[in-house]
Amino acid sequence: MPTWKEKLAGKMDSQLEEEIDVFETQIALRRSGKLDEKIFAETRLRRGVYGQRYDNGHRHDGIRTQELQYLSEMTKGPDTLWDAPGMQRIKIPFGGLTPDQMDALAELAEEYSDGVLHVTTRQDFQLHYVHIDDTPTLMRRLAAVGITTREACGNSIRNVTACPLAGVCRDEVFDVTPYAKASSKFLLGHPDAQGFGRKFKIAFSGCRERACGLVNMHDMGCIAVKRVENGEEKRGFELYVGGGLGAVPHQAKLFDSFLPEEELLPISQAIARVFARLGEKKNRAAARIKFLVTKLGIDEFRRIVLEERKTMPVDPRWTGYLAAVEKYKEKPSREASPLNGRQRPEGFDEWYRTNVYCQRQAGYAVAAITLPLGDLSAWQTRGLADVARRFSGDNVRTTVEQNIVLRWVSEADLPDLYRELKRIGLGDAGAGTIVDVTACPGTDTCKLGIASSRGLAAEIRTRLAGKFFNLDEAVKNLHIKISGCFNSCGQHHVADLGFYGTSRTIGNRKVPHFQIVLGGKWQDNAGAYGLAMGTVPSKRIPEVVERITDRFVRERQGTETFQEFVKRIGKQELTTILTPLMQGPAYEQDPSFYSDWGDPREFSIGDLGVGECAGEVVSVAQFDLAAAERMVFEGQLRLDEGDYAQADALAYRAMLQAAISLVKTQFQDVTDAPDTVVNEFRTRFYDTQLLGDRYAGSRFAQYLFKRHLSPPHEHTRDQAHRTVEEAQLFIESAYACYDLLTERGGMAAPLRPPVHTEKAAGIR
Ligand code: HEM
Ligand code: SF4
Repeated sequence: MPTWKEKLAGKMDSQLEEEIDVFETQIALRRSGKLDEKIFAETRLRRGVYGQRYDNGHRHDGIRTQELQYLSEMTKGPDTLWDAPGMQRIKIPFGGLTPDQMDALAELAEEYSDGVLHVTTRQDFQLHYVHIDDTPTLMRRLAAVGITTREACGNSIRNVTACPLAGVCRDEVFDVTPYAKASSKFLLGHPDAQGFGRKFKIAFSGCRERACGLVNMHDMGCIAVKRVENGEEKRGFELYVGGGLGAVPHQAKLFDSFLPEEELLPISQAIARVFARLGEKKNRAAARIKFLVTKLGIDEFRRIVLEERKTMPVDPRWTGYLAAVEKYKEKPSREASPLNGRQRPEGFDEWYRTNVYCQRQAGYAVAAITLPLGDLSAWQTRGLADVARRFSGDNVRTTVEQNIVLRWVSEADLPDLYRELKRIGLGDAGAGTIVDVTACPGTDTCKLGIASSRGLAAEIRTRLAGKFFNLDEAVKNLHIKISGCFNSCGQHHVADLGFYGTSRTIGNRKVPHFQIVLGGKWQDNAGAYGLAMGTVPSKRIPEVVERITDRFVRERQGTETFQEFVKRIGKQELTTILTPLMQGPAYEQDPSFYSDWGDPREFSIGDLGVGECAGEVVSVAQFDLAAAERMVFEGQLRLDEGDYAQADALAYRAMLQAAISLVKTQFQDVTDAPDTVVNEFRTRFYDTQLLGDRYAGSRFAQYLFKRHLSPPHEHTRDQAHRTVEEAQLFIESAYACYDLLTERGGMAAPLRPPVHTEKAAGIR
């Protein structure tokens, strides 16, 4: 039977295909101990392959920590066992999906994970319980339907998000979809975006007022604006930088009130270059761009970026996509028709009130699918793909509220659509309301989770759903968001009622608690962050929700919003509501407080692992050197197979790659034309003796020069063998040179695979 690799060869974007082959080789290199675990960890993170709770081989059973028996001791990152299940994040730029992609996702969930697809708070999908050995195949099958996992995690540009209503919204200035798409494509794998000390998140919004893209909490956010210039209407963006959540949330700062559309990509690139160059690399708690913007001040930051912009070589892709923007159009699967007079099934009206949005285009609507906890099964995903094919076409999107929307549904079809959704268990009302609680993965699968965010979300949802239709209108539209720890992946800072997990000791036992954060603002693109009020035992949080919302309903003045109410009555008064709930009972009185929601074990924080939120900071040079090694490894394989021409070519490419890695430390924009690389390398590293005698470096440099000037006339085993050997030695000397430069300061800390340390010692 053909493998998936053979079956799908040539059936995907060739660049994606090559990248996945490369990743497969990196897995093989790690397996054979030839790739350092820290570099491998960041490499896999940049492919979306994440660690998962218990992957260090330990699990606390409530009494003591038990060892999990995995097959081998091999690691895929520091303290992360090879065979332990992991998480695969799948990037969905601006949340855009087609039914065929949904079918593929359903198959993968079934075959490689636990059969559940999870929608994240940044419009991505996640699969859990995936074995690392399955990831290249999984990636190929995704690539065959146009999906990549590249840079879904790690210190890279993450999924570019956008409002799920973009293009159909009644309030938007213009459709940001083609811009989000172009940014995502342009920045994916961009060489200037590889040297970050931390992740970088971009969001697009069609207007200022609604939540849409949540621009204010992003590293870079773009709000659509228009202005008239010389009698002509021009499109542009209000550009924000330096926002972010996490333990220290920052509101983004205005970088430009009107960035013309043609400057969007070059300025994004300039910002990436400045962040890569000046951003913090050692202390990752201060490495997001928000800290750089705060340190420099927005004016100085802007000045540096604009200076950078002037130095950048012109790239035709900056504006190449603009001609197609005007023509960008989505195709509905059915004619528009009004709802009037259609027979409405039971439950339809309630669902319609909360889950249907009438589009700017008359006769069409957006239908939201409420996904409790952001989860849907493989079976439901397949069912939903069929429903989408029939009613919506290729116009499906995921949302940051962990839901899915079907756009371009003819209004007349809504009753039939509702019936079909009910049939597959996806007809719940309440999208975007208080019952639609957002939660990060928390202690279910996240290594950093302290308390069960999903357990609590499920409990609150169940309690509120039962009385939803009787809730006061003012309460119905509040947002609840829950994170399992202070890292705020559940976006609790921008919820009306936000919670994040923490732990407290009562007697000599640990008790799961949540910190309460009130009054964050979802509207105005996440316009304000909430106030921390104090911690309450996890089991009392549903009561907190009840007391606070009751008080709001009782004391609300006129059309006062929840944020205004929180501000008016003040922290002190709110704390008095909470104080009676803050103390937990003694264990003997009520042991249930000592376990978390949905988890019968006695609570402990013994399962906490080392986070992989950023991976290790691996410099661009280190990645480039690792790539050179991979090429020479592939050259060795071709040699063994008797393909001498390929072996020689790969060894030569490996030497060029190693030379580029050094040159780039001084000259970022060096092209990869072999003559340029060799010349730059010669003047910068050979003539200057930076690739010094101490490591017999200058001799090894000759290997590159020789192979560059005199390619072999015929390919024999001996010749190819020699070139592969020489390439290996050249890469060694490049590593040694890099380490030396690092010791002299100014570059990231050295991280060399142990195998090379030994070899390098031999060279000396
Ligand atoms: C120190 C480590 C971490 C920090 C500081 C961190 C921080 C954040 C923040 C601030 C967000 C969301 C807000 C935004 O949209 O910007 C986020 C998103 C997210 N985080 Fe984390 N996180 C960390 C580790 C993790 C881990 C270990 C997991 C679990 C595997 C995780 C899962 C998620 C998920 C599922 C999202 C939605 C992201 C997406 O689809 O791109 N995070 N993280
Ligand atoms: S908020 Fe904490 S528990 Fe939740 S996913 Fe992020 S790191 Fe994990």
